[in-house]
Amino acid sequence: MRNQHVLITGGAGFIGSHLADVMIERGFTVTVFDCLLPQVHGEIEKDGEGWPRYLNPKARRIKGDVLDQRAFAAALTGVTHLVHLAASVGVGQSMTNIVDYTRNNTLAAANVLEVLAKGGHGVQRMAVASSMSIYGEGEYLTRGGKPAIAEMRPLERLQRGEWEVQQNGETLTPIATRETKPLQPASIYAVNKRDHEEMFLSVGRAIGIPTVALRLFNAYGPRQALSNPYTGVAAIFASRLLNDRAPLVFEDGMQMRDFVHVRDVAEAFATVMTSQSDVWDAFNVGSGAAVSVNTIAHTLARLLRKNIAPHVLGKYRVGDVRHCYADIGKIAKTFGFRPRRDFDGGMEELVGWVAAQSVPTDGAERSLGELERSKMVV
Ligand SMILES: NC(=O)c1ccc[n+]([C@@H]2O[C@H](COP(=O)([O-])OP(=O)(O)OC[C@H]3O[C@@H](n4cnc5c(N)ncnc54)[C@H](O)[C@@H]3O)[C@@H](O)[C@H]2O)c1
Repeated sequence: MRNQHVLITGGAGFIGSHLADVMIERGFTVTVFDCLLPQVHGEIEKDGEGWPRYLNPKARRIKGDVLDQRAFAAALTGVTHLVHLAASVGVGQSMTNIVDYTRNNTLAAANVLEVLAKGGHGVQRMAVASSMSIYGEGEYLTRGGKPAIAEMRPLERLQRGEWEVQQNGETLTPIATRETKPLQPASIYAVNKRDHEEMFLSVGRAIGIPTVALRLFNAYGPRQALSNPYTGVAAIFASRLLNDRAPLVFEDGMQMRDFVHVRDVAEAFATVMTSQSDVWDAFNVGSGAAVSVNTIAHTLARLLRKNIAPHVLGKYRVGDVRHCYADIGKIAKTFGFRPRRDFDGGMEELVGWVAAQSVPTDGAERSLGELERSKMVV
């Protein structure tokens, strides 16, 4: 069998570094292609060449930008599998830095695909990171149990602190979201991620490379940048608590999300990359369990032994949805993949890792200020 060689764009990041570990364990040669964005890597412990110390020593490293077609094309030498993770990641930030986000996400994906479409490489299979954010609101039922398409919540209701989703004056009941739910991206980041998914699936099909888009829910776990105020809520809350400050919670904190361990996300990518089936499709990757944002804040405070309650802001952040958690039946049925880590064990591990880090700079207030100045919080 030919040497299996996976190129992971964004492979020095949170998910990419775990994926590198999993693919190395599965016998792949792994090359990480990453431009080491300062916002992500600024405060991470680095080696002499600027790579994060957590990166697997067996991973080959190329410092490069996917916006640079020539550098990306050169990195494809010998590569049989491609996972595209490189992106700017932050829902709130995407609503102010619209050009930067669209360049580094949509245009960057276009660069990757144009290189692939021109040929002259050995890529046989690829996957791209999509996001739950493309759904907008999750799936809901009416009181009578009928499916309901939830519209974005009207501003007047949000200004009155009425958070739940309604249809014709009736509060809807959230259920696990399936891939069939119509997409309603509500932020530039989400629009960019929908672009990623559709661009990869359409070009992948056209050039005959099986392609999977994984709609990742909220990934958490070791190595998530603690000082980046724009990424995962678990890392942001942990960072606040370590600085003896209350986690800042939008709305009333009862919004439901799906927190999936990063190692489960990495294993989902590994599963679809090592499958032999010819698939061009999108799949949810979540834990399958719904957890409120308040539960995350309280759980982290308890595990970090901090007697600090979340600061519930009672404000709406533009682009946020009320409830969205995953139905994970489709990836189980198609690839036999199921997440293996549970929430309590995963959070305990996260806290153990966070506690071992030097106390990170807390940028949550700065990022809230930026959002308020640009009227992205109401
Ligand atoms: N973390 C989550 O919960 C989550 C949820 C849904 C989707 N995703 C998606 O998964 C992917 C990985 O997310 P993550 O949490 O690991 O983010 P991350 O910020 O930790 O990693 C992204 C990596 O990409 C690199 N990068 C960014 N732009 C680049 C460019 N132009 N060229 C080369 N490298 C570049 C960054 O330096 C960073 O190392 C992203 O596409 C993100 O949109 C993540």
